[in-house]
Parts: sequence; structure tokens; C-alpha cells
Amino acid sequence: MRVLLSDFVLVCNDEFDIIKDGGVCFDEKILEIGNSDVLLAKYKNAEVEKLPKNSVLMPGLVNAHVHLEFGANVATLKYGDFMEWLKSVISSREELSGKCTEAVISASLEKMLKDGVTTIGAVSSFGLDMKACIKTPLNTVYFVEAIGSNPAAIDALFADFKSRYYEAKEAKTNSFTPAVSVHSPYSTHPILARRVLDIAKNDGAAVSAHFMESAHERKWLDSASGAMGEFMKNFNPRAKPMTTAIEFLELFRDVKTLFIHAVWARDDELKLISGQKNAVVHCPRSNALLGTGALDIKRAQKALVPLTLGTDGLSSNINLNLWDEMRAALFTHQTFALGGLAVLLLKAATCEGAKALGLNKGVLESGFDADIIALELAEVPCDISDIALHTILQTKTARRIFISGKEIQNR
Ligand code: BEZ
Ligand code: FE2
Repeated sequence: MRVLLSDFVLVCNDEFDIIKDGGVCFDEKILEIGNSDVLLAKYKNAEVEKLPKNSVLMPGLVNAHVHLEFGANVATLKYGDFMEWLKSVISSREELSGKCTEAVISASLEKMLKDGVTTIGAVSSFGLDMKACIKTPLNTVYFVEAIGSNPAAIDALFADFKSRYYEAKEAKTNSFTPAVSVHSPYSTHPILARRVLDIAKNDGAAVSAHFMESAHERKWLDSASGAMGEFMKNFNPRAKPMTTAIEFLELFRDVKTLFIHAVWARDDELKLISGQKNAVVHCPRSNALLGTGALDIKRAQKALVPLTLGTDGLSSNINLNLWDEMRAALFTHQTFALGGLAVLLLKAATCEGAKALGLNKGVLESGFDADIIALELAEVPCDISDIALHTILQTKTARRIFISGKEIQNR
């Protein structure tokens, strides 16, 4: 049993409680949080450590959406417009995945861990990332992807999905959880989607799906026109949208789903997402680089959509640092009150991410897994209510990292 004491504890519960001069007592689980004096008096036999001045304790971060298999991209893909980017992904897929060795993937995981990310939702297109995800101490929710719009190929695509999914299922551990990804409404045939979702339902697995990332997707699904229509002719000269946006969302009624992006989702679609108890993953830097616009956070909040945060892959980002992602979000949503936005982002990157992934993590409260990070601020704000904002502004990496109570040496 250990007790860590610090100047600030960010509990990251719904109320976003902040404890000044507090601490955490834990073994594999969090046993108690509270004021330092109370913990010291109660846990006399614990190994006690007072962290340096200006330290902040909080739950490990959750990067709810990443593609590790595109980790070799630096300048191979075309940025600026979603359709141009998608075309470049299709044409460079082999080249990029060929360069993505286990060493490249492990390096990405190591970097994220160093930053203080203790849980990821990783979409796997090919299965190249499985070994590294099993080996890492990071908690991985491993979303095995189903993609393909050609109706004639559904059986083969489903067979390929099953072989990757069942391999992941065989490898399940406490920190490696198989899950299911339906790529998107424009790229995954609904029959294929239904089949993989039946497996997710049966296994109680989490699901992720890209949804309404770009205006091109909106136009294609709503009116079968635009640049995405032209692009879809590559797969089928008589291609038509395979689903409406609402029909697509309804496929996920009984599964725990994270919808990635949702920048172009309408109010009724956002309401359906929240009504189905699903969540949205906000990836602001990916959206900026692919020219898809910014999620309207206020509209999402009005629809009561749980908001989580992700970096997306190096296919649409410059790094996988979730602190950089939060800073980018702060600079993106300029009409939002800054302090409130900082709290929303820290919750998205902790409790909301963990909840959406179905994990007992992301909050420093008794009974949750002891995934804890310690940060050290250069300077604390004079107004304690600004601590969330300054934690985001000042942090690049974590000083100390614990996963299920076990310290990870931060090299
Ligand atoms: C397909 O495999 O059918 C597909 C992939 C990406 C975008 C659209 C369709
Ligand atoms: Fe993505």
C-alpha cells in the first residue's frame, strides 16, 4: 500500500473536485483520496511519499482514438482536404504499413506512456500492431477494424475480420482488451457492419466508428453527390450511399460505441448518439490538418453527448501527445469560456474516455484502478480555480506513472 501526497489532486470526477494539499492511497486499486493529514493519520503502515513542490496528481490520460499502424507517416500523406488525404491513404497504405515495424509501434507506445497516457483506444486495420499492444504496460482497447463497401466481398471481408478479431480475443489480458471497429458509414457495408456488431454484442466488446468527419461525407450520405461520390466510383461505378446517417447510427443501439469526429453531425444525430449512451471522440488536430472544420462543442454539450479526446494516428497528426491535443483544443474553441473548456478537456481525457471505453479507470476515487500520474508545474496559478488550465498549458510529459498501482519507470 502506498500513499502519494502532492500540492494538488485533480480527482477528475463529474464535479471535477480539486484537493489542495491532498493525496492518494492505493494498491492495485485506489483505496482513498483526501487531505494529506487525514491520509497520514489513517495509513500509518503505508509507504508514504511527498512529491515535490507544485506537483499535481491525477488519473492517467486516456487517448480514445489512435491508429498505430500509420506511425511511419511524416509527409507521405496529403493534408488540407479530406478527400485528397483519403486518396493518398489508399495509394500509400501498403508503403506506410510496410514501414510500420513492431519497433516503430513500440516507440509510439513508449512516447505516449512517457506523456502520461495510461490507456488507449487503438484502431487496428491489419493486425500489425497486436504484438506491441500486448507487450506494452499501457492499457489497450484494441479495435479490430471492418472496412469494405463491395457487396461481393462481404463474406471474405468478414472472414478476414474474424481471423484478426479471434486472434486478439485469444490474446486478451488485463491490459489488452479486444474490441470492434466499423470504419465508417461510407466505407463499411451495412451487412458487414451488422455481422461484426453481432460479435461485439455477444462479447460485450466496445465499438468505434468514424462518423461525419468531413463535409464530403455529409454530402455523399445526404445527396449521393460531391467529391466523395466521384471517389466511390473507384470501388463501384454505380456506387450509391449504403445507408443514411441515422440508419448507420441506429446499428449501434445496443453496443458501447465511440463515434470518432462527428464534426458534421446534425443535432438529431447527436441526440441519437447520446440517447443510445454512445460517445464522441474529439480529435481537433486531425480535423485541422484534414480541413474538416471544428466540432461544435457547445452543440454536442446541448445534446448531452459524452465527449472524449483522441489524437487520431500519425496519419493525421504531428505527434501523439495528448497534452498537445488539449492545448490545440484550447486554441480551437475560442468562444468557450477558457477555464470551463480546460475542465471539459481534462475530463474528456480521463473519466469520459475511460467510461466510453468501458473501463474502471480515469477517476481518482476509491474502487477505481490505480492508474495515476504525477506532474510538476513550473508555477502554480494564484487562483486555484485556474489549476486545470495551467495543468494543460504547462505539461508535456508526466514525472511519475502508475498503472494498476505499479510504477512504470519513466525513462
Ligand atoms: C472500401 O474499401 O470500400 C472503401 C475504403 C475507404 C473508403 C471508401 C471505401
Ligand atoms: Fe481515425
